[in-house]
Amino acid sequence: MKEIKKDVYWVGKVDWELRKFHGDEYSTHRGTTYNSYLVKEKKTALIDTVWSPFSAEFVENLKKYVSLKEIDYVVANHAEIDHSGGLAELMEIIPETPVYCTKSGVKSLKGHFHKDWNFVPVKTGDKLNLGKKELMFIEAPMLHWPDSMFCYLTEENLLFSNDAFGQHLASELMYNDLVDQAELFQECIKYYANILTPFSGLVEKKIDEFKSLNVPVDMICPSHGVIWRDNPLQIVGKYLDWSKNYRENQITIVYDTMWNGTRKMAEAIAKGIKSADDKAVVKLFNISRSDKNDVATEVFKSKALLVGSPTFNRGILSAVAGFMEQIRGLKFKEKKAAAFGTYGWSAESVDVISKGLESAGFDLLEDGIKSIWNPDENSLKECVDFGKEIAVKTRFPNRQ
Ligand code: FEO
Repeated sequence: MKEIKKDVYWVGKVDWELRKFHGDEYSTHRGTTYNSYLVKEKKTALIDTVWSPFSAEFVENLKKYVSLKEIDYVVANHAEIDHSGGLAELMEIIPETPVYCTKSGVKSLKGHFHKDWNFVPVKTGDKLNLGKKELMFIEAPMLHWPDSMFCYLTEENLLFSNDAFGQHLASELMYNDLVDQAELFQECIKYYANILTPFSGLVEKKIDEFKSLNVPVDMICPSHGVIWRDNPLQIVGKYLDWSKNYRENQITIVYDTMWNGTRKMAEAIAKGIKSADDKAVVKLFNISRSDKNDVATEVFKSKALLVGSPTFNRGILSAVAGFMEQIRGLKFKEKKAAAFGTYGWSAESVDVISKGLESAGFDLLEDGIKSIWNPDENSLKECVDFGKEIAVKTRFPNRQ
């Protein structure tokens, strides 16, 4: 237990081992934390818990600092079990204690735990008096689940933002100013790109709504990673940037290859882009050998995405197909795209990818480029020219 502000304690778990999250859907190279907070005022409130495997450890640990029967209120900002997992064990001991959550939270918590706890549904603006301090609730639907909620502690000026503004970053250092800044912001943008991108339209509205409350913010306490105490609004500024169809001067090329023909095409296209625009960042990823969440983060940063696959069984390679499904769900906006790939006796891959890119919301720059068998010098020259055209059509600042 660490006191982060007067009468407010961190009682969470640092998970150094975690390497996959959401099943196998999200890589966590740097582990994570499940942040739970205890406010010990005249009344005692527990805000969120930890992931289910750490439930027993969490409750044992909590007992060292507070008699569980003295917990007056439990706040469940979000029902996903990385935050609500500890409730199962805790509520066995204090079954009558009220659980404050949104109306959707009641449904999701019941859906996960099949228990009829003493739920108290709350709405934006509702307040819970703890003595001198109050907790004010702020619903945040679809950031990133229907039940998601923030709460704000008066007097200490703390925003408990749950998943928002979080990062999968294990650290014993606890605060944003103490950790490696490159690692911190890499994990923040990866988190945004892979989890929040589909809901970008709601991010700006929610931030504006919170700003209109006109309350001071001394710290932002997310449910994963470090607490923002040094210039806490810097991460809010980043979220505003990221929510507005974010693009850097980058083109990302994602492909898979069987006998290196499509790889050669990718490299020739990259060469063409660089020769036409030496300021553009070009990154290549063989998707079957790359971390899909790191690649999605690079796509998030890009102004254009080029996707390549040889034709295989009249379609595309499975790693590319998985990637196409991933970007479809992320709903990127205002990004350009094109397809490429080799073929032998039938040539479906470029059309399959092009259709996939279009239906994923990308603007197609070209019909795509195909190369038969192993690309020869002439084919590679065409790829270089294709890259040049892509560079010209996406050149900053005159984007098309
Ligand atoms: Fe960290 Fe949506 O759970």
